[in-house]
Amino acid sequence: MVLTAESVFKVFGTGDGSAGAASSNASPNASTNKALAKAMALAHDGVDRAEIQKRTGALIAVRDVSFTVSEGESFVVMGLSGSGKSTLIRCLARLVEPSAGTVTMWGRNVLELDDDELRQLRRHRISMVFQHFGLFPHRTVVDNVAYGLEVQGVDKDQRRSRAIGWGDHYPQQLSGGMQQRVGLARALAVEPDILFFDEPFSALDPLIRREMQDELLELQERQRRTIVFITHDFDEALRLADRIAIMKDGAFEQVGSAAEILMSPATPYVEAFTREAPKAKILTAADAVDRTSGDGSQRSSSAPVASVATLEEVLPRLLASREPLAVTGDDDEVIGVLRHEKVAELLGQGPNGIG
Ligand SMILES: Nc1ncnc2c1ncn2[C@@H]1O[C@H](COP(=O)(O)OP(=O)(O)O)[C@@H](O)[C@H]1O
Ligand SMILES: [Mg+2]
Repeated sequence: MVLTAESVFKVFGTGDGSAGAASSNASPNASTNKALAKAMALAHDGVDRAEIQKRTGALIAVRDVSFTVSEGESFVVMGLSGSGKSTLIRCLARLVEPSAGTVTMWGRNVLELDDDELRQLRRHRISMVFQHFGLFPHRTVVDNVAYGLEVQGVDKDQRRSRAIGWGDHYPQQLSGGMQQRVGLARALAVEPDILFFDEPFSALDPLIRREMQDELLELQERQRRTIVFITHDFDEALRLADRIAIMKDGAFEQVGSAAEILMSPATPYVEAFTREAPKAKILTAADAVDRTSGDGSQRSSSAPVASVATLEEVLPRLLASREPLAVTGDDDEVIGVLRHEKVAELLGQGPNGIG
């Protein structure tokens, strides 16, 4: 496993007088520990975040979060503003010190790395892309892209040759979309093993945003990076994720593939997001297939549909057919049938639907 987080907590404002960033790196003192312990105990008893804050003054920004990310996977954390996404991703890279839990990368506990090891990790193995680009205004685009290489100690000629094609403009001269392309190029220039994204496209106009999502998807086709991507946009999560975690009040409500979350939302909170989701574009014939009739005996007269086809793609065919359609797998063998009732149910219009 490339990345594992286990029972990660981050509690802010634990009695050291500042609720600000200072508390995250301050050395623990007695009152801090006491407030932290009290907040953690309440969290353990299932008391909600607002109530814990009322009783202890401490804010549980990240609450008992556990997950794993495997090599080449795009893991997307989706949650509304204030749900703790930025704090979580900062805990992973140790830009914020977790209050409890462990974070492991390639089998090593990141929380035990010394300063030097941490620097090496940040220089060579992980990269971050933030919402507000984080470009250096006084450097040209080419030097921004080359920055990570400079930190790695790559010499100047080599740096510039690896960052070539990005021009001698300064960031202010570029549109938001171009700036974020530069941010992405800079993060990629060091060839990181894990890319962390904290709402990189949230400030962009919808069209540009979609273009950037497409670029990231293309990049994943070619390079298969390990990615942790934060967004507050459910549709963005559905587009980009291999797996999605839905975060609320610091905790994960559900983790699963887009299809799993759309087809079986674990809580009413998650279900509310799925209601407006473009299910037909995401769910495939494989998600709806009835495998119990896979022997081919019920094969309809129409040509079969591929299991990887989206419901949107198969709908015209299904609507034109009175009988269920045969569904074929990777080797063109029939794996089952696609029934009108099942598709209607999944798209939320059937008897058990919510539409
Ligand atoms: N340094 C900090 N000190 C105190 N509270 C913080 C700090 N950083 C974040 N918070 C609080 O933690 C909660 C989660 O914030 P954040 O991780 O930024 O959420 P998100 O990225 O999902 O919007 C919010 O209530 C926020 O106000
Ligand atoms: Mg944030």
